Amino acid sequence: MQLHENDSYWAKNASKFDKHIHSDIEALVKKIGNDIGHVDRVLDVAAGTGVVSLELAKRVRQVDALDLEPKMISVAQKKADESRIVNISFHVQSAYELDFPDHIFDAIVILNSLHVMKAPDVALGEARRVIKPTGLLVAPTYCHAETAKSLDNYQRWASKSGHKSYYLFTCNSLCALISGCGFEVKKKRTVEIKHERQSQGMMLGYVVASPAPAAS
Ligand SMILES: C[S@@+](CC[C@H](N)C(=O)[O-])C[C@H]1O[C@@H](n2cnc3c(N)ncnc32)[C@H](O)[C@@H]1O
Repeated sequence: MQLHENDSYWAKNASKFDKHIHSDIEALVKKIGNDIGHVDRVLDVAAGTGVVSLELAKRVRQVDALDLEPKMISVAQKKADESRIVNISFHVQSAYELDFPDHIFDAIVILNSLHVMKAPDVALGEARRVIKPTGLLVAPTYCHAETAKSLDNYQRWASKSGHKSYYLFTCNSLCALISGCGFEVKKKRTVEIKHERQSQGMMLGYVVASPAPAAS
């Protein structure tokens, strides 16, 4: 199996990606910031256009933001430059092969991305390697299969937009994946993410985990 997604969806949508930001997403990003707090160094995996990196940069000393798609990173870099934010380092890099030493991050965020990866277990394995033993993983991920309505809403939107989710998680199946990759789930809840114009939205699993102690 070829590991990388090799799709052009993110390149095609980079310039308009931020149009999806609305009040529910802004509230989610603030919550991530609050849960992480004022730590030293944070990694934003599959950072896209930097939606969460830019928020975290206000609170932590150093953010490393990576994404496989150069056009997404270029939008994020431009936004950081325009806001004169200097404590984010941007990297075009795969979540499957992190170019960082072991155990250096106080927190890792993987927002809205595990379901669009072909091999989220490989990304989580790398996250487990680079996170400090005392670190925090925050992985809010769409769980389209959580309810029949959410699945229906997602499938109708995906057929129009060409969006591909490799995994249709439930919050429980997402937690099982994260636990199976060396983390202990500390908090989990489902949140409905809904654009102002929609009467019903899509379900997201908000999962916070810490590294499970390595087996001796
Ligand atoms: C839905 S976007 C989320 C972006 C951002 N985290 C947010 O919530 O605004 C998914 C991102 O995952 C990135 N991505 C997919 N597979 C990846 C991989 N293997 N390594 C790094 N980034 C990846 C895509 O390029 C895209 O920018």
